[in-house]
Amino acid sequence: MTSRYQEAHQRALNDPEAFWGEAARAIDWVRAPTRILERQADGTGRWFADGILNTCWNALDRHVEGGRADQAALIYDSPVTGVVQRFTYRELRDQVALFAGALVALGVVQGDRVVIYMPMVPEAAIAMLACARLGAIHSVVFGGFAAAELATRLDDARPTVVVSASCGIEVSRTIAYKPLLDEAIRLAQAKPRHCIVLQRPMLAATLEPGRDLDWADAVAAARPHDCVPVAATDPLYILYTSGTTGQPKGIVRDHGGHAVALRWSMDNIYAVAPGEVMFTASDVGWVVGHSYIVYAPLLAGATSVLYEGKPVGTPDAGAFWRVIAQHGVAVMFTAPTAFRAIKRDDPEGRLLAQYDLGRFRALFLAGERADPPTVEWAQDLLRVPVIDHWWQTETGWPIAANCMGLGLMPVKPGSPTVAVPGWDVCCLDAEGRPMAAGDVGALAIRLPLPPGALPTLWNAEARFRQAYLAAFPGYYQTGDAGFIDGDGYVHVMSRTDDIINVAGHRLSTGAMEEVLAGHPDVAECAVIGVADELKGQVPLGLLVLKSGARRSTDEVARDVVQLVRDRIGPVAAFKTAVVVQRLPKTRSGKILRGTMRAIADSQDYRMPATIDDPAALDEIRQALGRIGYARAPG
Ligand code: COA
Ligand code: AMP
Repeated sequence: MTSRYQEAHQRALNDPEAFWGEAARAIDWVRAPTRILERQADGTGRWFADGILNTCWNALDRHVEGGRADQAALIYDSPVTGVVQRFTYRELRDQVALFAGALVALGVVQGDRVVIYMPMVPEAAIAMLACARLGAIHSVVFGGFAAAELATRLDDARPTVVVSASCGIEVSRTIAYKPLLDEAIRLAQAKPRHCIVLQRPMLAATLEPGRDLDWADAVAAARPHDCVPVAATDPLYILYTSGTTGQPKGIVRDHGGHAVALRWSMDNIYAVAPGEVMFTASDVGWVVGHSYIVYAPLLAGATSVLYEGKPVGTPDAGAFWRVIAQHGVAVMFTAPTAFRAIKRDDPEGRLLAQYDLGRFRALFLAGERADPPTVEWAQDLLRVPVIDHWWQTETGWPIAANCMGLGLMPVKPGSPTVAVPGWDVCCLDAEGRPMAAGDVGALAIRLPLPPGALPTLWNAEARFRQAYLAAFPGYYQTGDAGFIDGDGYVHVMSRTDDIINVAGHRLSTGAMEEVLAGHPDVAECAVIGVADELKGQVPLGLLVLKSGARRSTDEVARDVVQLVRDRIGPVAAFKTAVVVQRLPKTRSGKILRGTMRAIADSQDYRMPATIDDPAALDEIRQALGRIGYARAPG
């Protein structure tokens, strides 16, 4: 018998126009699309090209008009400030309309960019939705990035206005945001005309007269603004993510495909019904936060929890259980690292006994490989399905999942289950030929990609084609390696590039190497991602010093740690650098990062046939051994 999943998967592959045309009916259109999928000669496609809509209308106004005005849309739960604040759909719509008016008063028009650099406060979501209301393009920058990273994004996005806050709170530390913003604007070539700054009671920011406005004043003077109709193919947002260099990739998301795909995912992947509560413990600065804290729950008329806290320490490892119980959460979504942190602090899960999780139905995990011990621990404790699913900033929603709304399939530990309807996942060899079931290769998606996936990179169409479409003509290259087994289950093993995943945060080791190489005493360097029990991976730097270096090896190692923190940000979690005499290389001069990673993680590895000088590997093993890595020689 064909399962509901198989039926949907086949229909989406065989007749995507009919499948997504039907899904598009769940969205309110100013002009319904008639051209569902326009196929381009290179295999890519444009979704809903003649459709006109407004994403904010679909997220807020339609629910206010449709009977959900008094239902909670957003619950701000902040253990770090002791605040719980509920916004009904009407309240959120009104605040968003007012803030949209404030942006318009500063000259923001459709197509303008607005950079949002904020902690996890409801105003961040309000600012995003206000941009969507105006057809302005938001670009949210995660608060853990340093001023230089923000400056790079300002220069690429060239925003009219930046929205920020006086501070964020990291457990019990107050982190001043405004000095970072001021420094970023100083560094950037593209200066925003204005900044709107939310003054939080814990710390007041100094405002620059003429340029900066207090959020409260801007809103007090504003008139509510209506939804502006935009083309389905117009950009809703740009979200920068790590590429292989210090220049991040500006992932573009369009309005129409995004709204249709996310709305569909709420029923079919997450099985969250209108009126139910979804809790995504991530950050609005990441794609998971964009999609499942802000847009998808609201598009579905559900309630979203916006949580300003950590899995542990705010106040303890029972924090998530408290939120689930207090707000009647049906479905939660976070990264495996959060559960590893909880397990570390409360291995028996004793804190759970204090809470009633009666309405809790499922836990979804993504952002990094879900290690089977963590999944099993969570499942034994919570006694609900724990669903690993695979996706990327580029895709905007899951590529592979156990689609709860289409009937759960048997779980294979370590696999995010099967391709989600709409995604034609393939495993290819280096020449682009399909691999046999079970053989490891490059995971790729046959074009066209479904609605919601990136149509391009901001200001960088050529880079988009080069990075994603060039390697395998007719396919999107995910950058992940893995295999598809005989039952069609996808197994995601590792990245094929130099991107690492640190506590579910995506970072580029190439970008860190650029920072290390900038130290005057560093001749050569490599940054590798090594296994970490809590964060999955952490970066580790290997440095070769110039002869006649002015500072000692210890000093340079300390300097570069500080440099990465200053240039990229604390989120990089770059805490260890070690000075070595030389780096192992191939005869053509390529640094053997993969082999060094295997040595650091005490894994078996094969001596590369092309290695220039095998003794260099022994030196690396000894150096890593001195700092606690490379415990068992490979
Ligand atoms: N603003 C400023 N600084 C921030 C920040 C923000 N929004 N977010 C993180 N940082 C800082 C932290 O304070 C920390 O600084 P430190 O080096 O001075 O301690 C650093 O960046 C690293 O932060 P984080 O990755 O959060 O590590 P942690 O050690 O503080 O906490 C976990 C570890 C596992 C508890 C934490 O990573 C976590 O909750 N992860 C959840 C997963 C997640 O949200 N993933 C997103 C994709 S789904
Ligand atoms: P990001 O763009 O930050 O969402 O990171 C995307 C990358 O995280 C993917 O390319 C994978 O390498 C990794 N990733 C995300 N989800 C999973 C998962 N469920 N299993 C394995 N890797 C994952």
